[in-house]
Amino acid sequence: MKFNPRGEKYNNVIEELEKIREMDIHFDSSRILGSMCTRPHPIAVKAFEMFIETNLGDPALFPGTKEIEKRLVEIMKDFTNAPSNAMGLVVSGGTEGNITAIRIARALSKKRKVILPEGAHFSFQKIASLMNINLDFVRLDEHYCTDVNELEAKIDKNTAAVVAIAGSTELGTIDNIPVISEICSEKNVFLHVDAAFGGFVIPFLKEMGYDLYDFDFKIEGVSSVQVDHHKMGCSVIPMGMLLVRNREWIEDVSIDSPYVSIPKQATILGTRPGASVAAAYAVIKYLGREGYKKIVEKCMQLTEYTAKRIEEIGLKLPVKPALNVIGIKLKNPRKVYEELSKKGWRVAKIERISCIRLVIMPHVTKNAVDKFIPDLEKICKKTGEI
Ligand SMILES: Cc1ncc(COP(=O)(O)O)c(C=O)c1O
Repeated sequence: MKFNPRGEKYNNVIEELEKIREMDIHFDSSRILGSMCTRPHPIAVKAFEMFIETNLGDPALFPGTKEIEKRLVEIMKDFTNAPSNAMGLVVSGGTEGNITAIRIARALSKKRKVILPEGAHFSFQKIASLMNINLDFVRLDEHYCTDVNELEAKIDKNTAAVVAIAGSTELGTIDNIPVISEICSEKNVFLHVDAAFGGFVIPFLKEMGYDLYDFDFKIEGVSSVQVDHHKMGCSVIPMGMLLVRNREWIEDVSIDSPYVSIPKQATILGTRPGASVAAAYAVIKYLGREGYKKIVEKCMQLTEYTAKRIEEIGLKLPVKPALNVIGIKLKNPRKVYEELSKKGWRVAKIERISCIRLVIMPHVTKNAVDKFIPDLEKICKKTGEI
């Protein structure tokens, strides 16, 4: 790679970028079957471009963008059944939201132990190393959900927070949050719900009649909820929101911010993209609950079709998909993953539970699934899985 200190022609730079971009796999290719992100909705892209230069770290310069953030927080409070005193913090995604939730729990309790399920997203490992937190992992039950009895037994005087998952990264499973909430309320422990993936899926599946646990502020003991717009929210990366039950809690983690136009900042990021907020606002206003419901319905129907086809070729699923996430149990997931990659398929491998994982996002088509299944069957026969 040559770097010209005198700069280069605009067209040359763009040409180079176009060539390099060809190395990427595009969501439109329908080859990406393992990602929790998707192609952003066109209205999100349009809004992102309109607000490209805005910075919510210095909101006096961008009162319009700040107003959009305020409106989006209100919409998300409504989405998560939050009480009026709740507050939403725009964050860059699940990792920053989880970090911030645990910062709040630690500041409130002055304690250092966090109880969470095995297989919780690796952002919690980052939290442990950043904040000198001890992680105490709870075994999963036969449904790949937190074992609530073990969780209850682990809560002690050092516990700062319990984490429950609504749409796990590994298999899309949902913890029994109503029961976990009762335990946390009784023991007066902060309960953070990581709904980074499930937040834009579960409410709509429930409306369609799926029998899934409640996960949000409808449940009294839930202290905070993380929801990601850049996953099933169909918006542009980076964008998520951490919602907390009491706005006063945010004060506890706010840091004086001289030089900019707000006195304090609670987010990890200083300079924050207003474009992400505008994009998320545009897509949520445009789609409404009905629009998301249609997207989720399509994803779930294709998930059920795909799961059936996988079982028909003789493979086993660890659990029936609760959301649009499918695990496939394998003896050697790494080998199958590598063989699928050679054929151009991009799935995720979850070696901890000996699975590969598919996520049936809005960009995944039935046509792609119909091409994928014969390839999967051939590979699994060759590698002795079936
Ligand atoms: C449940 C869950 N939480 C948190 C995260 C982290 O989100 P991000 O990659 O946006 O930081 C993910 C990512 O897949 C996730 O699935």
